Amino acid sequence: MKGVILAGGLGTRLNPLTFVTNKHLLPVYDKPMIYYPIETLVKGGITEVLIVTSGPHVGHFLGLLKNGKEFGLTHLEYAYQEKPDGGIADALSIARDFADNGPLAVVLGDNTTDADISEAVKNFKSGGHVFLREVPDPQRYGVATIDPNDKTKLIDIVEKPKNPVSNLAVTGLYLYDNKVFDFIDGIQPSDRGELEITDVNNMYLKKGELGWSMLGGYWTDAGTFDTLYRASKYWFEKHQQDKK
Ligand code: TTP
Repeated sequence: MKGVILAGGLGTRLNPLTFVTNKHLLPVYDKPMIYYPIETLVKGGITEVLIVTSGPHVGHFLGLLKNGKEFGLTHLEYAYQEKPDGGIADALSIARDFADNGPLAVVLGDNTTDADISEAVKNFKSGGHVFLREVPDPQRYGVATIDPNDKTKLIDIVEKPKNPVSNLAVTGLYLYDNKVFDFIDGIQPSDRGELEITDVNNMYLKKGELGWSMLGGYWTDAGTFDTLYRASKYWFEKHQQDKK
């Protein structure tokens, strides 16, 4: 399986930091944010990666990551999202040629986790797969409802609901077969003007082709000042523990 890291967006919630650099190049403890999703993919057994990015600082990714060899990547490609806030599904649509009809593991560039997705990657056959996580603030995420009569089944995912029906957030890690690109072609921008990945996931869901599992280990996005701080604190503390 190949991997895609989505590192476009505007990163407005981290202004003024993101006035002068791309969000994914900001430090999370001792590394640029983008290192974490790369390491998640490599740990998951994925070494062919495309990074989709945008904005005025895109050149810095190449200077930092080069050909990706030092991370254990065998192939690293870069792509440019023309509309930086076109949405996660818009950013993913650029990966069609790279996917070459095969399945993809997709990670949002601001997600940091020590979860091991290698089993899910190995077992993936077709359709889509989302990784869920219980969170205290589900209204910030796509929120999943599980069928009370069949706990293996997802019923619905609602994007940033005002009154969430559960505390199960859809994290920024996904597995998709190649149908994902046809589904993206079939969706319209949401009220906030973005092509929403939740709409794509719901298309898989309606076809009965969306699997799920709970994401283990530590996980957070690092796209707000609070979560950027918390992520840095977690990795600092883990580093201290590992030194003992
Ligand atoms: P968000 O955090 O939802 O959006 P953002 O990065 O633009 O930040 P803000 O809301 O503060 O302006 O995006 C989550 C991840 O998805 C982010 O790490 C980058 C990626 N993304 C893209 O690649 N393209 C996009 O068009 C969007 C909206 C996000």
